Amino acid sequence: MLASGQGEQTARAGGANGIVPRHVAIIMDGNGRWAAARGLPRALGHRQGAEAVRGAVRTARSLGIEVLTLYAFSSENWKRPADEVRDLMALLRLYLRREIAELDRNDVRMRFIGDRTALSSDLQELIAHAERKTAENRGLQLVLAVNYGGRNEIVCAARRLAEEVAAGRLAPAEIDEDAFARHLELADLPDPDLVIRTSGEQRLSNFLLWQSAYSELLFLDCLWPDFDEATFRQAVADYTARERRFGGR
Ligand code: IPE
Ligand code: IPE
Ligand code: MG
Repeated sequence: MLASGQGEQTARAGGANGIVPRHVAIIMDGNGRWAAARGLPRALGHRQGAEAVRGAVRTARSLGIEVLTLYAFSSENWKRPADEVRDLMALLRLYLRREIAELDRNDVRMRFIGDRTALSSDLQELIAHAERKTAENRGLQLVLAVNYGGRNEIVCAARRLAEEVAAGRLAPAEIDEDAFARHLELADLPDPDLVIRTSGEQRLSNFLLWQSAYSELLFLDCLWPDFDEATFRQAVADYTARERRFGGR
């Protein structure tokens, strides 16, 4: 979607098909299993997962990745026991309070996708503050998906298009893929080049359904708290060795 940056991409060539992914999206899965394997409560797995987030941000910056999108809480995760949901929200609160200043110093721009209106008002304020404070930063864009669901995002885009048609501002025949994509969240960002899921599960769990149409998918057995710099670098190396075709030959 972003027209600019193509030259930049080529300039960073290195690897079989030669390009550092501009946008990496990660389904951070396996915190519970990491904790269970150690006889620890799940909350500690989530806490260790937040540490892995700090490391992933650092590695993404050093690799020159432009956008890192992290799936932190899905619209289906409300089905979990109330105390686990509370732990996850508390951790998000803590992360935002603790990390914003440093992310800002490191020129990271923070953005959020998902339905934030269902979050507590203090979290909504922290999110708005994080976005505002880092809005002018031009380094890594860090996107956190919180109460995010890909199907809902698509339905919301369809609803907005329908409203424009109903208001007479748009003809049905003008609805094409570009018009549709413009109504999704983060329409200004390139689609993910690489989607990584940790924990050995091989599914998308409602993550970036539209945007991942042509993403390279990488499923790792590693549990999210164990996702370290070497694992991230290897994942990117695996990506650069792949041949992307986009239907061509
Ligand atoms: C990922 O770890 C964190 C969230 C989904 C919020 P899980 O909590 O899903 O860990 P497992 O899958 O039970 O191991
Ligand atoms: C996906 O993990 C959501 C996040 C990582 C935030 P889940 O653990 O919720 O996914 P399922 O239930 O195994 O599909
Ligand atoms: Mg899981």
